[in-house]
Amino acid sequence: MKMAQIIDGKLISKKVKEDVAKEVASYKEKGINPTLAVVIVGDNPASRVYVNSKKKDCEECGMGSLEYAMPEDTTEEELLALVNELNNRDDVNGILVQLPLPKHINEDSIINAISPEKDVDAFHPQNVGRIMLGGAKFLPCTPAGVMELLDAYGIDPQGKDCVVIGRSNIVGKPMALLLLARNATVTVCHSKTQNLAEKVRNADIVVAAVGRANFVTADMVKEGAVVIDVGINRLENGKLCGDVEFEGVSKKASFITPVPGGVGPMTRAVLMKNTLATIK
Ligand code: GUN
Repeated sequence: MKMAQIIDGKLISKKVKEDVAKEVASYKEKGINPTLAVVIVGDNPASRVYVNSKKKDCEECGMGSLEYAMPEDTTEEELLALVNELNNRDDVNGILVQLPLPKHINEDSIINAISPEKDVDAFHPQNVGRIMLGGAKFLPCTPAGVMELLDAYGIDPQGKDCVVIGRSNIVGKPMALLLLARNATVTVCHSKTQNLAEKVRNADIVVAAVGRANFVTADMVKEGAVVIDVGINRLENGKLCGDVEFEGVSKKASFITPVPGGVGPMTRAVLMKNTLATIK
């Protein structure tokens, strides 16, 4: 049985971070110390893991990192005050407020308050608008990471039928826009989509960003399709698992990303690139 080629996100992300590290070193020679500020509110365990990883990435790239861990009962005003302070600090280049925020804080208010020039997630409406129109300075980390993986493996989306499953502001919507910008024909599927399996079966490239373990099964995938798994689901046994049923789908796909070790590390590598891009 032929197996899909594994798209090695860990390997590609390492190369991206090595390039970032070189650029960081040359900035440092000029007396510029690229620095990312990460804000976490409360103690969501998944958020804690992500924030720790980002700190580690900064270290690997020689980049400065500042962590602001605020208690769960932080008020929106207090968080806005911190964002303002970070906006105004010359020694802070990028600002990332880890989501989700506690329910009493309006996420949109916080995102809107981050200076668009320091918004390394590219979540601010001004940056979202630039992604829509083209010519953005930085791209949202996960979708941009997916595009870099496709490029690294010589997969050209031009003219291809692409199906994005999921329409979140963080992944699904911007993913569709980036594929469209590369001349793909894009279908966005979601919870209200009719005949979803049929649409996925038609796709040359599938990007699964649903947030449901093993949602995409082999019977839904066309022979030879490229399957990108953005899902990170924690199973009851503690194991991480994507949105794609890897075992079965890898026997039909031509390329597939594993979880972990696929899209996740690329998301973080793009964050490092974006932090540098704030300086340019
Ligand atoms: N929570 C889950 N994904 C993300 C992300 O890409 N950025 C931020 N800030 N929070 C997240």
